[in-house]
Amino acid sequence: MVYIENDKIASNVPSAWYSSLENYIVKGRNAEIWDSEGKRFLDYVGGYAVLNTGHLHPTVIERVKVQLDDFSHSCFAFAPHENAVKLSEELNKRYPINSDTKTFMVNSGAEAVENAVKIARYFTNKKGILSFKGGFHGRTYLAMGLTGKDKPYKEGFGPFPEFVKHASYPYAYRDVSDDQALESVKELFNTTLDPNDTAAMIVEVQLGEGGYIPASSYFLQSLREICDEKNILLIFDEVQTGFGRTGNMFGAETVNVVPDIVTLAKGIAGGFPLAAVLGKSEIMDSIHDAGIGSTFGASPVSCAAALGVLEAFDNENILENASKQSEIMNSQLLNMLKEYDFIGDVRGYGPMIGVEIVKGKDLNSPDKDKTMQIISKCKDNGLLLVSCGENGNVIRFMGPLTTPINQVEEALEIFKNSLN
Ligand SMILES: Cc1ncc(COP(=O)(O)O)c(C=O)c1O
Repeated sequence: MVYIENDKIASNVPSAWYSSLENYIVKGRNAEIWDSEGKRFLDYVGGYAVLNTGHLHPTVIERVKVQLDDFSHSCFAFAPHENAVKLSEELNKRYPINSDTKTFMVNSGAEAVENAVKIARYFTNKKGILSFKGGFHGRTYLAMGLTGKDKPYKEGFGPFPEFVKHASYPYAYRDVSDDQALESVKELFNTTLDPNDTAAMIVEVQLGEGGYIPASSYFLQSLREICDEKNILLIFDEVQTGFGRTGNMFGAETVNVVPDIVTLAKGIAGGFPLAAVLGKSEIMDSIHDAGIGSTFGASPVSCAAALGVLEAFDNENILENASKQSEIMNSQLLNMLKEYDFIGDVRGYGPMIGVEIVKGKDLNSPDKDKTMQIISKCKDNGLLLVSCGENGNVIRFMGPLTTPINQVEEALEIFKNSLN
């Protein structure tokens, strides 16, 4: 058996890149993982909302193996391959933008976001970008600039682009209503952001890192209308909300609002690195030849995995399972909300549920220490969870959508025992 020697980690990787688990992970199957000491966990972190189809989904792995018999890499701009084209075709067919779309593939969520903004600026020939407080869009410079949460993502890394401005994101529990958030968008347009020189708004359908806060259809539809009125493109960052996480295949379906461009990553390839920018054809085709590209983007292996993910969604009732999961989780977590005075809120679309921990039902007293205690207790008891939110006091559930119902119940039981 292998054990992580802590001094070995410390002497080889930067301390800022710390891991939460003490031991190496040595095996993963669907919603379960095992560490190097043989301890089994239910994985409600899922590689940070990546493993929507679980660890080593057989259909995904089979497709990968078949691809690896042929070749492992070709830079798409030089030698196209069928997997990338099939995947683009599938995504164009499935993402609910009701006009022709095209898809371009890169490696990570941040890279997809960078490219979405790049394309929006080119198409509109405008500079400004409106983003939201609490939003998270990745760790590259522009993505950091778009991100609306300072610690730990931006602190000390500035300056960031001046052309990005942040409006309020609605947060019902903390009394930021949809209308107040919309007012803050209008206020930016009246002050620091020229609407005639704004290329795009970028928004998550439900904040991920920002605290699992869902935006209403009304709010997002109102953004859509503002964008239409001012000739601004609407970008949905669905890196976290995509691939079933909100209960539908895509967050856009959950809120019934149509963006112009969308970024996808995380769950797209079942654990293999891949991301996509999908948008209306006229926008995607506006860029000059070779103006977008990436050496590893659309890796044939990752594209094979992604086709396996879509096949699994088509054949295995994954969305039905996700909706069963969210029903059970919501009903039990809402009971816990009544029972424990340190649970302030339970919220989220589908199985993308966040539990906000506060002191004595006081929404103004976020309790990060207690949040960490609960997460640590859960880990001791065999359930992996992480926190999110501006104050680090929201526990989020990101388990595979393929988790068997008995394991969903087991996870909730461990959670409840750990609260006690
Ligand atoms: C909404 C959203 N956008 C972008 C990103 C960045 O993705 P990546 O870490 O793959 O660059 C994340 C990652 O958590 C995310 O949740």
